[in-house]
Amino acid sequence: NITTKFTQGLPKAELHLHIEGTLEPALKLKLAQRNHVDIGQTTIAEVQKTYEYHDLASFLAVYYPAMNVLQTEEDFYDLAMAYLHRAAANNVRHAEIFFDPQAHTSRGIDFATVINGLYQATVDARALNIDAHLIMCFLRDFSKESARKTLAEALQYKDKIIGIGLDSDEHNNPPLKFARQFEDAAAAGLHLTTHCDIDQKDSIEHIRQALEIMGVERLDHGTNIVEDPDLVAFAAKNHIGLTSCPLSNTFVTPEMKGKEVIELLNKNVPVSIHSDDPAYFGGYISDNYYALAQQFNLTVEQIVQLARNSFATAWISPEQKQLYF
Ligand code: ADE
Ligand code: ZN
Repeated sequence: NITTKFTQGLPKAELHLHIEGTLEPALKLKLAQRNHVDIGQTTIAEVQKTYEYHDLASFLAVYYPAMNVLQTEEDFYDLAMAYLHRAAANNVRHAEIFFDPQAHTSRGIDFATVINGLYQATVDARALNIDAHLIMCFLRDFSKESARKTLAEALQYKDKIIGIGLDSDEHNNPPLKFARQFEDAAAAGLHLTTHCDIDQKDSIEHIRQALEIMGVERLDHGTNIVEDPDLVAFAAKNHIGLTSCPLSNTFVTPEMKGKEVIELLNKNVPVSIHSDDPAYFGGYISDNYYALAQQFNLTVEQIVQLARNSFATAWISPEQKQLYF
């Protein structure tokens, strides 16, 4: 029988984690007080009560306003360090962490404030035995022009970023909208991934664009791919990592997409398990492994394979992969 001790102790790479999604109610309140931001609540329980949603759009409507409490470099550092301590307790050995600069620059915070605070935390993560990196995401519901400007700023900090991604509201915002930015980022040596959220309108077409036209190396969520055998074969052949987030899925649809994960394992697609926005979706990475294992009766071998896949599809050298498994 799978235990929480087992899922916690298993060495893991976290590849799908939004740093803004790790803002726990207690930290939100602390930062609100520190920065004199009126968030409308004065106790942790009151903040917790506002963390309520039933689909992607209603989640994002809570998620973005919460970020107002993040103002200074120190705030971004504290947010990331709080996550990294949790990650260390979950035996996360390697982390590739998403951040959304436009969610901050659009409310008047400098790009430098965001990246410098987050980056310092990735440096200090070494003392926690975590190899941590940053992936910059474009908000896909913002304009192409905004993405262009954001990439130009990001390229000034190229050494502090390992890759780029695409998140936020997918509805009518296909990957191809950002083809030019992805091309430019790849030319600058950055890795590529994109969200293809579960059960979206045009899910399969978005997955196809991302894989066949834009050449992304991973898909975040992306489990709707099982509807298209040719794309599944493409993902297996090209070793495309799919980063599935079981607890997050249950907020968007009634289920964790465990059947899809098992099918992908059986078809040799390197799917792996992550936590998405753990402060909002009720659990960190080990909780996600545990919940999926319980609900779908996963074997020890399947769980170990999921963890192996997380390192296999991480953006690290073959030599470094050997260190973990
Ligand atoms: N930003 C943070 N979490 C997200 C998710 N699950 N989907 C899209 N954008 C996000
Ligand atoms: Zn996500």
